[in-house]
Amino acid sequence: MPLIQWDETMAVGMEELDEQHMELIDLINEVYEAIQRHDEPMMSRILEKTRNYSDAHFETEEAILRSYGYPKTEEHGEQHRTFTAKLDEFKRNMHTTANLSQVFIFLSRWLSNHIMNEDREFIPWLPETNDEGA
Ligand SMILES: [Fe+2]
Repeated sequence: MPLIQWDETMAVGMEELDEQHMELIDLINEVYEAIQRHDEPMMSRILEKTRNYSDAHFETEEAILRSYGYPKTEEHGEQHRTFTAKLDEFKRNMHTTANLSQVFIFLSRWLSNHIMNEDREFIPWLPETNDEGA
């Protein structure tokens, strides 16, 4: 069973970003699965993938925010850096006895809260993308 599930409450209304958020959620769910299975090679592989994917996603998102003049772009970017730092901490401690689930809980909570609260805050700055009909 997936840990996090994307739903409309996470939608920012821009297809490119919504799809990337779904992919990130999938990756976090895969990390969760690897932890449950105590599968370190899988964990390591997925974490690497998550690091690369989140780097690319944050870069894309920040470039979009900058291009539409979102006033909190810098601050928003700093929040992304928090996730990256925690992800690296997780990767570093993966093979030790450190409390992995605690770090992982931070990552999964961070992601859903960030999308639902921080990302949705920039919706008014995005161009109208109402493709759902009235
Ligand atoms: Fe974001």
